[in-house]
Amino acid sequence: MTSIIGPTLRREAECEAILRSLPQWFGIEDSVISYARDSGVMPTFAVDGAQGLVGFITLMEHFPASWEVHCIAVSASVRGTGIGTRLLAHAEKWLAQRGARFLQIKTIAAKKTDPHYDQTREYYIRRGYSPVEVFPTIWHPSNPALQLIKALT
Ligand SMILES: CC(C)(COP(=O)(O)OP(=O)(O)OC[C@H]1O[C@@H](n2cnc3c(N)ncnc32)[C@H](O)[C@@H]1OP(=O)(O)O)[C@@H](O)C(=O)NCCC(=O)NCCS
Repeated sequence: MTSIIGPTLRREAECEAILRSLPQWFGIEDSVISYARDSGVMPTFAVDGAQGLVGFITLMEHFPASWEVHCIAVSASVRGTGIGTRLLAHAEKWLAQRGARFLQIKTIAAKKTDPHYDQTREYYIRRGYSPVEVFPTIWHPSNPALQLIKALT
């Protein structure tokens, strides 16, 4: 049985390897480097398997009651085996226990045709996240961002 570790994680190299297994989602080199670095600085939970980390979720605090999923990724070879759902549920519970009320996510908006991010949006919606607004230029005009949010309490 794999265990969830965190929220203090200093396993940047393993997080980077997970991101690099998912080039369809994490294809921008600067983003890969900064998400890996942030996993060692911001609250991060990970699933630790026999061969090392297989997935992680990094959380960003905007206000004590309002947090954001900064990054979530599950190693390509074990996607679809429940790891992401476990990580998200664990993060939601940890946040609710410390008084957080909202968890938001920004991901690529449907305006851009991308079957990979279609899966990602569906994943969040099925886990109770509601689309709130599209920000056309917050990242880059070619990457419109969809904000989704869930009330935790
Ligand atoms: C999104 C992600 C974190 C989910 O983690 P996961 O461990 O694969 O997810 P789970 O096994 O818990 O659940 C799988 C869900 O994804 C869906 N899914 C769709 N295509 C899939 C695929 N090729 N492989 C795995 N799951 C897939 C499954 O249908 C399932 O949804 P459902 O249970 O609502 O029917 C993970 O797939 C991932 O890292 N994706 C790429 C990176 C990404 O999208 N990050 C977020 C960027 S904002």
